[in-house]
Amino acid sequence: MKSNKLLNILFSILFLFSFTSPLFAETGEGTNMETVLKVMVAITAFTIAFLMWLVLVYAEKNDAQGELLLGPFKSVFKWITKSTPISQEHEILMDHDYDGIKELDNKIPPWFNFLFYGTILFSIIYLVNYHVIGSGNIQEEEYLAEMQAAKEQQQLLARSGALLDEESVTRVSDPSALSNGETIYLKHCAACHAADGGGLVGPNLTDEYWVHGGGIKNVFKVIKYGVPQKGMISWQSQLSPTEMQEVGSYILTMEGTTPAAPKDPEGELWTASDEEADGAAVNPAMKDKGVGPITEVTLGEIDPQIAAKGKDIFELKCSACHKMDKRFIGPALRGITERRSPEWIMNMILVPDRMVQENKAARELLMEYISPMANQNLSQEETRAILEYFRTETNQE
Ligand code: HEC
Ligand code: HEC
Repeated sequence: MKSNKLLNILFSILFLFSFTSPLFAETGEGTNMETVLKVMVAITAFTIAFLMWLVLVYAEKNDAQGELLLGPFKSVFKWITKSTPISQEHEILMDHDYDGIKELDNKIPPWFNFLFYGTILFSIIYLVNYHVIGSGNIQEEEYLAEMQAAKEQQQLLARSGALLDEESVTRVSDPSALSNGETIYLKHCAACHAADGGGLVGPNLTDEYWVHGGGIKNVFKVIKYGVPQKGMISWQSQLSPTEMQEVGSYILTMEGTTPAAPKDPEGELWTASDEEADGAAVNPAMKDKGVGPITEVTLGEIDPQIAAKGKDIFELKCSACHKMDKRFIGPALRGITERRSPEWIMNMILVPDRMVQENKAARELLMEYISPMANQNLSQEETRAILEYFRTETNQE
């Protein structure tokens, strides 16, 4: 009966192993050492479980033979536990007695000692491998390596144009891209916008007036999604993001040219300041000034002297929690002036407690980082200097 219970356990183990079968599938793509090892361990464990099961079945059928087969297991078990059989317990009984509770002087089981010495051995190997030779990647290096790999992947995707959308698109100006754009334009667009952009069914693309807003982001959006009810189709199924970027950039080069038969301007006048406002609209965080004493900051050319002063203050007061390029106790700060408004940054430094209470973005940061940003009691002038320093630490290489 007891072995029936054991049988059940063994079956459960076998059942669980069937869930690890994806391990086997993994070997298909990019066989690396780790998966091979995992598969080998799984196969070994599976075989052992199967053998034990066979032994049990055999033992059930023929008791005398079963004893023979289970014998080695039993003696191994005895050796690693060094337990004293109940019949001999009187030999190790200690001679004190607490209200009828007696104590046995059992040896420390060898398996426990092995575990203990094992951890010591492991710690030595670990220490030498990770901290002395440095051949293993410690957590931080592993993290950085993964981040690096992800960055490379993203760059690859960006180069292939897969990540290009109306938010991230930029105007391209190199001649080969523009000539690609021209080819696409003449093939697909000239029928409605005229070869010289003067407009036929579609509007004139050479003037400064745009129905849906000028600038590459709006133009890209119109090309991508179209205005089907007005006869401008969506091109995203026929053109790749890169092609839409190229033809959009090409269209923008036609501005100011004189077509043979220009259509009258339609829509609104689009100027450079609209372009800027549009850029800010894409990243609403840049409009968020936060709450606190700073309501307006005017930025001029970067003043290297003030920036150097800011750097000193930063290293003294902030670097305990912030690094430029990696997340520490607080967020990495490189490019902070490209994702937060100057007012927001200064308020965050001057009154972090008020910011996390009253500003949504700051509150979300606190939720993410859990520990709050410390108020360093800096003056507005010192804070401005740090802002100047941040402006020198942008994402551009
Ligand atoms: C079947 C005709 C047709 C074709 C082909 C066509 N367009 Fe258009 N396009 C239009 C019409 C009509 C409009 C005006 C939509 C409106 O008024 O809302 C338009 C509007 C636009 C606008 C916005 C202009 C503005 O003032 O905001 C852009 C940019 C544009 N088209 C680019 C292209 C590009 C690039 C192609 C080729 C890939 C193309 N179009 C092909 C008919 C066409
Ligand atoms: C005790 C650690 C600590 C110190 C010291 C500290 N910060 Fe912070 N900082 C944080 C944490 C944590 C956050 C994010 C969570 C939050 O907002 O509370 C943060 C957030 C920020 C942010 C917003 C970052 C983003 O991604 O939007 C800026 C800017 C900032 N700190 C600048 C500074 C400056 C400048 C100093 C020095 C005057 C400084 N911090 C000192 C811990 C610190």
